[in-house]
Amino acid sequence: VVDLGQNEELEPIRRKALQVGAHQALVFDAKAEFIRDFIFPGIKANLKYEFEYPLATALARPLISKVISQVARETGADSLAHGCTAKGNDQVRFELAWFALSPELKVIAPAREWGELKDRQKAIEYAQKNQIEIEIKKKSPYSIDQNLWGRSVECGVLEDPWTEPPEEVFAWTNSLQASPDQPEYLELEFKGGLPIKLNGEDFSDQPEKLIRLLNQIAGKHGIGRIDQVENRLVGIKSREIYEAPAALLLNKAHRELEFLVNTKDLMHFKMFIEQKYAELIYNGLWFSPLKDSLQAFIESSQTKVSGLVRLKLYKSSCIVVGRKSEQSLYNQALATYDHRDYFEHDCAQGFIKLFGLDLKNYYFLNKP
Ligand code: ARG
Repeated sequence: VVDLGQNEELEPIRRKALQVGAHQALVFDAKAEFIRDFIFPGIKANLKYEFEYPLATALARPLISKVISQVARETGADSLAHGCTAKGNDQVRFELAWFALSPELKVIAPAREWGELKDRQKAIEYAQKNQIEIEIKKKSPYSIDQNLWGRSVECGVLEDPWTEPPEEVFAWTNSLQASPDQPEYLELEFKGGLPIKLNGEDFSDQPEKLIRLLNQIAGKHGIGRIDQVENRLVGIKSREIYEAPAALLLNKAHRELEFLVNTKDLMHFKMFIEQKYAELIYNGLWFSPLKDSLQAFIESSQTKVSGLVRLKLYKSSCIVVGRKSEQSLYNQALATYDHRDYFEHDCAQGFIKLFGLDLKNYYFLNKP
């Protein structure tokens, strides 16, 4: 069991593994690595699959796979197993990671391969027959996955994409009605593309604390709910509800700061790279040469991304209301409309003439 900040009691899971016949069961705390090597690159890349999903589940899989394959090698195991079904993305993510990290180990997927676990009812019967203690929650028919970076919920009534998610689906975010009637302002400081201070308080050595705090503050204001129909890798469209308050808030602030300090070309090109990077992570290709190269580009785009962003949180909206940086490329003397202006007005006419030259040319050749 890998601890990625999912706020679940992991010791009972370990004990249960031993009860059902495991020789050894380990709980592995990978929170620090998750933040440093997965969440942080995600912040720098403004990660969002299909413009919405900040990839909390997808980012966790390669790290879980890595830990499992390390433990397997240390203990001399000859096979690896996961509990994914045949329809999801996660089976692909685990297996591709294992192909890349320990291809000599065999992969077993009981939920996919063994008839007696094929559907939920059969799985319950199997557990009862084999004295495996399970919690059967008829009232909560949802499938939930969570970690420090977000929460994913599907199944039950959510399978109908026309049905509004009932309030019980949400655990990290307040409804609009329940969120405070007063706005709250936050000041986030970034250095090299990463958040280091909140309202002046230094969190550079406590990123977990900062992410938890942002989840809590943004969640309180109802920020971070996502209702998405997404394209799975295996060809299915699925409807998922996500909660990712800190991820959405950090994304807003980070992107805004980037636009202040980076050039237009760099930002426009980076947006393509970000999409490709998100897609590749969603598709389980974390451990791949292309991912390393994309990440190198993203890293190199972050050298100037230091400064302050001021956010206003209110009734599920998170708006940037201020930004400043020593690296700012915003030049008031160029942007202003008052007398201090030193933009070269005479250049504009000639610039437009040349920029649009081919449009005129096209007109004269093709005119109706
Ligand atoms: N659709 C998301 C993904 O593929 C989340 C999958 C897990 N969701 C869940 N509710 N168990 O990354």
